[in-house]
Amino acid sequence: MFLVCLSDFEAYAKKHLPKVTWDYFAAGADESCTRDDNLMAYKRIRLRPRVLRDVSVVDTKTMILGTEISFPVGIAPTGFHKLAWPDGEESTAKAADAMNTCYIASTYATCSMEEIVAAAPTGFRWFQLYIHQKRSASEWLVRRAEALGFQAVVLTVDVPYSGKRREDLRNDFQLPPHLSVKNLEGSFEDHDRSEYGLPANSMEPRLSWEDIRWLQSLTHLPIVLKGILTKEDADLAVRHGVQGIIVSNHGGRQLDGVPATIDALVEIKEIVQDKVEVYLDGGIRTGSDVLKALALGAKCVFIGRPALWGLAYKGEEGLREVLQVLKDEFRLSMALTGCRNVSEIGRHLVQSSRL
Ligand SMILES: Cc1cc2nc3c(=O)[nH]c(=O)nc-3n(C[C@H](O)[C@H](O)[C@H](O)COP(=O)(O)O)c2cc1C
Repeated sequence: MFLVCLSDFEAYAKKHLPKVTWDYFAAGADESCTRDDNLMAYKRIRLRPRVLRDVSVVDTKTMILGTEISFPVGIAPTGFHKLAWPDGEESTAKAADAMNTCYIASTYATCSMEEIVAAAPTGFRWFQLYIHQKRSASEWLVRRAEALGFQAVVLTVDVPYSGKRREDLRNDFQLPPHLSVKNLEGSFEDHDRSEYGLPANSMEPRLSWEDIRWLQSLTHLPIVLKGILTKEDADLAVRHGVQGIIVSNHGGRQLDGVPATIDALVEIKEIVQDKVEVYLDGGIRTGSDVLKALALGAKCVFIGRPALWGLAYKGEEGLREVLQVLKDEFRLSMALTGCRNVSEIGRHLVQSSRL
């Protein structure tokens, strides 16, 4: 089979995954307006190509938090990769390493962070942190991640409670008994377990800006906040001394009705400028989506669901293919807009009526 674009991988995954798994991956919150708008928003943006600029050599490399990656697309944190492929996150780590890009491993991985590191010892990785009410469990995760060589902590800030995903409720979605949230094994008492093998409602809803200082006191690693959607919070993030922001609405899985991330990026970039690195996830499906996000100020973007489709197709190899398709499309979009390296990508590439 020859899959030429990310929607081909999506169609394959939809056809081959069990319905309950597909529904879990695809789900948005409530009416899924935000999930769908994440994609549609890119289709509303028009490009302004420059021509006659000798694009015989196009360099897609960039740097994030001081590390070079081969192109500005990394893997967003998503849980439960073993639902997509037997080796789960081990395959994800290998694919990201092979493609020389960044993998943000989820707290809710079905492989432990130790297994992830062992699968791709030289890989460039960040660790995504959920803070649970049992703070000692979160503290232990951060210390392990730092000791294992993860290069940043990505704190997800948009889940004080889980969003309402209708299909998951209808399906009574549960992690199958042979899988578990490996990173948290031993952290909670057995009799407490009820949600994904963790205590129900165990996320810390009291989390506040004060806790950023607490997190900073636990680790020397740079801290990136994931789930920022307004200039007010972006400004607070900068004032609290974090090193990066991921403009994210959790793939539309949390609060339905918030803007597409590409739309939120504009106001955030205006206030943050170059004080900290700004990244984005949500709805990236083509190389020109990547180009548009960079044109509007993202340093790098991350893919969530498309990575799961790649895994569902052929594990490590399938995810490598997904990344290669995006890389080739991104290089082509650069060439066709007259950009020879990522520093030439800027606002001038986007029609101003949209901003
Ligand atoms: C199945 C699934 C599981 C997810 N799990 C996590 C998670 O464990 N931690 C987290 O911070 N974000 C999680 N996310 C959100 C992603 O990191 C990301 O924000 C989103 O998927 C990006 O949108 P996209 O899927 O359109 O690329 C999850 C998303 C999906 C689809």
